[in-house]
Parts: sequence; C-alpha cells; structure tokens
Amino acid sequence: MIIAHISDTHLALDTPDADPRIRDFERTIAAINALDPAPDVIVHTGDIVHHGRQDEYAEAVAILANARAPVHVLAGNKDNRANLHAAFSARGYLAPDSEFIDYAVEDFPVRLIAVDTLSTGSNKGDFCPVRARRLIGLIDAEPTKPIAIFAHHPPFEVPVGPDPLNFETPEAMARLRQASQHTGRVVASFSGHVHRAAAGHVGTIPATVVPCIATTLRKGEYPAGMRRSPVYHVHRFDPLWGFATESRMVGTESSS
Ligand SMILES: [Fe+2]
Repeated sequence: MIIAHISDTHLALDTPDADPRIRDFERTIAAINALDPAPDVIVHTGDIVHHGRQDEYAEAVAILANARAPVHVLAGNKDNRANLHAAFSARGYLAPDSEFIDYAVEDFPVRLIAVDTLSTGSNKGDFCPVRARRLIGLIDAEPTKPIAIFAHHPPFEVPVGPDPLNFETPEAMARLRQASQHTGRVVASFSGHVHRAAAGHVGTIPATVVPCIATTLRKGEYPAGMRRSPVYHVHRFDPLWGFATESRMVGTESSS
C-alpha cells in the first residue's frame, strides 16, 4: 500500500503569494499523478486553505479534482469545519452530522484513521475527552488490521520552532497519544502543521511530520534552487516492516 501525504497548502485568494500557493498545490498533485507505481490514496493533513472561506475551498476542490488517486482531507487550525465539510461532503467519507472531522478509511490493508485536532480558539491543537473516546471507537470498530493515524498537529514535541508543544495543553496532546496506543494496532502517526519535516514517537509508534506544500510558508533552510520546490511524503507499507517514508521534492519541470 502506498500513501501520498501532503499538508498545509494554505490556499488564499487575496494574499501577495496567492498565486505561488496555488501553483505549489497544482504542481504537487501533478507530481503525485506521475508516480510509478501510483499511490493508492492521497491524504491531506489540513490547513487546506488559509482563511476557511468557501471560495478558497472551491479552489482546493478544483485542484484536487485532478488527482488520480482518491483524496482524503483533515481539518487544520486554519480550516473551517462547516465550510470544509460542505466542500468535501460529496466524496462520501465525512459523516453528515458529525461534530468533528474524524473518520476511518476501510478500503486498504492498513486502516486510515483521521482525527480532528482543530481548536476554534487557537492555532494550537486541541484533543478533548470526547474526541479521545471517538478515536478509541474508530480503533475498536475493526479488530484485525494495522492502523495509520493522521492528525494535523504533531502528537509529539518538535523542538525546532517557537514552541515544541503544538497543542494548547500537555493534557490534550497526552489524550491523543494515549488513545493512539489503544490496542497496540496503530503502526504509524502522520502529521503536518509545523511546516518543516520532523520525526518522533508516540510511545513505540513512529511519527513523522511532512513539510508544508506552500513553499512561501515553509520553515527550514533549503538551497536556492530548491526553495520553490514543494516537498511531500510517500509512505509505503510492508506487513513485516511497517511504513517506510520517502521525502519527495516536486521538480520545477512538472509545473504547468
Ligand atoms: Fe496548522
């Protein structure tokens, strides 16, 4: 099983870098479409748009319509749950009346579970007891397959950056970490949000962070020739070894 993982496209229509953000997103989808072998699925771990606006989501939906693999999206801190839901509900994987953007994808040898770490009052993540119970319920819904959990905010401290803790409280992050370890079937944790690559652990579960697709917002040092090349992750699953993650850089030649 092959997962193409993107995050933090931050589409905006009226910022000075609106056009490069759109181009970065388009070029990344074109590059993923050209992967051989093709990915089974694309997961976007949130901050799809920058202001949570309907017109921004319409642009995101139009770009993602070009993807050959099925796409699943999460909510980040810049997203608006209602507008995200309205934009993507036609895809069928978002529950119609759900308070949160959390769900399981059952189509693959590894179950994909998306969790909702959005806080409406902060850019940092939240994970309340209700969401922890919902995650445990999603894990328990199928008793045999391995699971990969996707969350916008990294469920481990990322020491590079303004604040290693990307949740509002240590308790909120601890709830996500604890629920993720329920049953021991979760084999990987994948996130975004910090706009740079990082790796850590949730207990014994390996956890990685993909850089942001919007190159104008990316953190970290890149050589001059690579500064406008989005980076995404390809997670390949082997039943014996678990996931191996490859970082891929989108070449300028794939620009359209
Ligand atoms: Fe974020």
